[in-house]
Amino acid sequence: MSRAPKSVYACTACGGQSSKWVGQCPDCGAWNSLQESVAPPVATTGRFGGYGGTAEAAVRTLASIATGTETRLTTGLDELDRVLGGGLVAGSVVLIGGDPGIGKSTLLLQALASLSARVPALYVTGEESAEQVSLRARRLGVSGDRLRLLTETGVERILAHAATERPRVMVVDSIQTLYTELLQSAPGSVAQVRESAAQLVRHAKRSDTAVFLVGHVTKEGALAGPRVLEHMVDTVLYFEGEVGSQFRLIRAIKNRFGAVNELGVFAMTDRGLKPVSNPSAIFLSRHDQEVAGSGILVTREGTRPLLVEVQALVDQSPLANPRRVALGLEQNRLAMLLAVLHRHGGIAMYDQDVYVNVVGGVRVTETAADLPTLLAVLSSFRDRPLPGDLVAFGEVGLAGEVRPVPSGQERLREAAKHGFRRALVPHANAPKRGVEGLEIVPVRRLAEALEILA
Ligand code: TYD
Ligand code: MG
Repeated sequence: MSRAPKSVYACTACGGQSSKWVGQCPDCGAWNSLQESVAPPVATTGRFGGYGGTAEAAVRTLASIATGTETRLTTGLDELDRVLGGGLVAGSVVLIGGDPGIGKSTLLLQALASLSARVPALYVTGEESAEQVSLRARRLGVSGDRLRLLTETGVERILAHAATERPRVMVVDSIQTLYTELLQSAPGSVAQVRESAAQLVRHAKRSDTAVFLVGHVTKEGALAGPRVLEHMVDTVLYFEGEVGSQFRLIRAIKNRFGAVNELGVFAMTDRGLKPVSNPSAIFLSRHDQEVAGSGILVTREGTRPLLVEVQALVDQSPLANPRRVALGLEQNRLAMLLAVLHRHGGIAMYDQDVYVNVVGGVRVTETAADLPTLLAVLSSFRDRPLPGDLVAFGEVGLAGEVRPVPSGQERLREAAKHGFRRALVPHANAPKRGVEGLEIVPVRRLAEALEILA
């Protein structure tokens, strides 16, 4: 007797499953995220079967496993190689997320065209027609002589083509358009996305093919489909950019083969994406004359120091609860810093609106921005510019102390390279021998640092 297929409810955020519908996901706590789908068939391939069961693999000691040097392919785009950790690793799976129209397809077409000159490459598109891809390639001026193109959305058929084409690098644009015959739910559903990705990951590992998966992001900015996708792949890259800006940032969120938070910078031109090798130069908007409320900070993204400008505007507030707005920085951190400024600097801003923005759409997630942020805020409050040749970095603690941050030397060298003459730094970050061309001003307490504006 055949039974009706069983329904399961899967969370669109974390992929967790429940046998009945509930308003809040029991696994991750997200609200209204459960969607009905058909339960996947239970694998019945014996004791060691099922998903990826490899009964023949034996238990060994770690030391006895011979490791070849990992082969890395350069993608022809330096900035992409940088976020990948120095090139594309054979057999790795890279997920690239980003808003629609940000340039994911453009980036991968450029990379794949360059790779196809050296290794067999396959571009699978489920979103665009072959003509559209070809038009874009012509516009980009890339050669399509060796690049193989496939328009297909069925995973099983894609893998069958991959078995005959034997590409070393494959792009799948996008994972949300794929479906597998194993499941009946619609393409784009959690179960489909997860199962399709699982099959591609298995193929990548088995055949040593490097696979790029394009993923869409939701309105909230997370990768659409289950979060489990991020766990299945080796590397997760996010493509970011500000509306109206030509600059695009690509950031490694997870990387099994390199540093996380590594940042690659591109400019979108009428002939595709061009790597920007000296990003400090573009994020600094040099003012003709010194202006109040602007500070330069040396942040460190991944392995590279980066100079960015943080701007603040402090203005008398008509509101009972004055505004605290932080763009590119964390809002809570700003509130905390203002409390420290009051308690340890004696400067009250409870009747002031405070706006802070990091120029160029850069998002700074590290605490080294604390000190320059407070300097910019105070500079705007007092309407007194900071010296134009000054850079700063350092974490500010709740006790009013200025704490060191990693890689002080590197940051100072980057500042000197771009013509800055003075650096306000945590005492513990001051190098013993100094940095050529740079006057180092070490500070231990916030109050000392604020004297620069006295
Ligand atoms: P696309 O790669 O299609 O974005 P995604 O795959 O992330 O959705 O990028 C499309 C955008 O890029 C579109 O708004 C036009 C712009 N663009 C250029 O400015 N120059 C170019 O050479 C190309 C190909 C696209
Ligand atoms: Mg696209």
